[in-house]
Amino acid sequence: MKKKVCLRTFGCQMNMADSEIMAALLKEEGYALCDSEAEADLVLLNTCAVRDNAVQKIRHQLDQLKGQKRARPGLMVGVTGCVPQYYRDELFAISDAVDFIAGPDSYRNLGSLVRRASEGERVADLEFRSAESYADIEPLRQEGISAFIPVMRGCNNMCAYCVVPFTRGRERSRPMSSVLLEASRLAEQGYREITLLGQNVNSYHDIEAAAGFPVLLDEVAKRVPGVRIRFTTSHPKDMSPRLVEAIASNTNICTTVHLPVQSGSSSMLARMKRGHSREEYLEKVGMIKQTLPGVTLSTDLISGFPGETAHEHEETLSLLREVRYDYAYTFCYSVRPGTSAAEQLEDDVPESEKKRRLQEIIDLQNGISRELFQADIGKVVEVLAESESRRSSLQLMGRTEGNRVVVFDRAGYRPGEIVKVRISSATSATLVGIPA
Ligand code: SAH
Ligand code: SF4
Ligand code: F3S
Repeated sequence: MKKKVCLRTFGCQMNMADSEIMAALLKEEGYALCDSEAEADLVLLNTCAVRDNAVQKIRHQLDQLKGQKRARPGLMVGVTGCVPQYYRDELFAISDAVDFIAGPDSYRNLGSLVRRASEGERVADLEFRSAESYADIEPLRQEGISAFIPVMRGCNNMCAYCVVPFTRGRERSRPMSSVLLEASRLAEQGYREITLLGQNVNSYHDIEAAAGFPVLLDEVAKRVPGVRIRFTTSHPKDMSPRLVEAIASNTNICTTVHLPVQSGSSSMLARMKRGHSREEYLEKVGMIKQTLPGVTLSTDLISGFPGETAHEHEETLSLLREVRYDYAYTFCYSVRPGTSAAEQLEDDVPESEKKRRLQEIIDLQNGISRELFQADIGKVVEVLAESESRRSSLQLMGRTEGNRVVVFDRAGYRPGEIVKVRISSATSATLVGIPA
């Protein structure tokens, strides 16, 4: 009988894509995927270390797995991804449920790690392999409408607060030819949407093909004209006019950009080592809006980074009013030992104040989102239907090109179809309508 692996994924989309790569590699080792820890011979936690609460979640999971291991001593538990890369061997001391650990560049060795661990050795592979891009591995994807293609890995930016450069290592890009091949294959398999992924996707660079991200995006879009193309996450410094023109000149590239800003204050952005000012960021936003009429934008924001003054916080609020994002992912600053902020700056904004400011950001943003969504009432929008709606089997849910979630009457349509929907009502997060 086949051995079973239960793979639990935490953190960002890169981790989700990595889990699909791990699933493919483990299939070669004779494992079948299963959904519950109770049936599994092997449980893998693919983890995130970006904030302390992400790590607490893993501790909690490991506590639960300890009970399972007691009941079934043959059960193996591996921790992969960013937590082991960040905590290194210390992770073994944090929980005795951990049999082995593997960092993001070590997944080809999973099979041998499991074998050695099952002989009783607590093994770790945390080597950085800066040439590793898993370009030759065909990820084992869930069937569906949307697929990820990771195109680059790692980050060279060293923002003051962030662990990602320490957990993911140096930037490296896949050959463009391998991305194009994968895109064609996905289109043949019936996927209707492809998201190109990278921690800094727009610093993609294929040296041999002398192709940067605008070229890659353009080529992918032309290779699979019937498929919607998205990409994430973009860094403002690499948001070039050429990239925006590539979006404008291909109708299948969605006119939506996730452009993390972190703060609306230039003095704060300098302390965060983001490499751009408020003004430079707003200039890029202006260029994007001008070239891509109707574009939707989203962002990431951190509240309460060291030294944040009331004025700097106000500047973040005013930037939100100026840009008018569709959505913002918002976080309280979390000290990450080893980062330059943790070493050099005092975490001096009290927790309660971080939360108060965060709430102010969320309230303002929700109001803006609601206004933007309500402005769609009466309009007809194109929706890629993804699945049955959570509330009713008589409705489908999907997204507009701008990534707005739409729930609409099924009326005989099926997931995977593009449907024209007339919007009749809206909240700050969802549009509701009927096929036009
Ligand atoms: N590569 C992307 C995303 C990195 S992590 C980028 O450069 O934008 C995702 C988000 O987590 C970041 O954009 C940031 O808003 C948040 N984040 C990272 N480190 C953090 C920390 N120490 N505390 C709070 N939020 C953090
Ligand atoms: Fe972290 Fe900055 Fe790199 Fe994004 S660009 S992953 S925030 S260091
Ligand atoms: Fe988290 Fe690692 Fe992604 S720290 S955000 S899972 S790159």
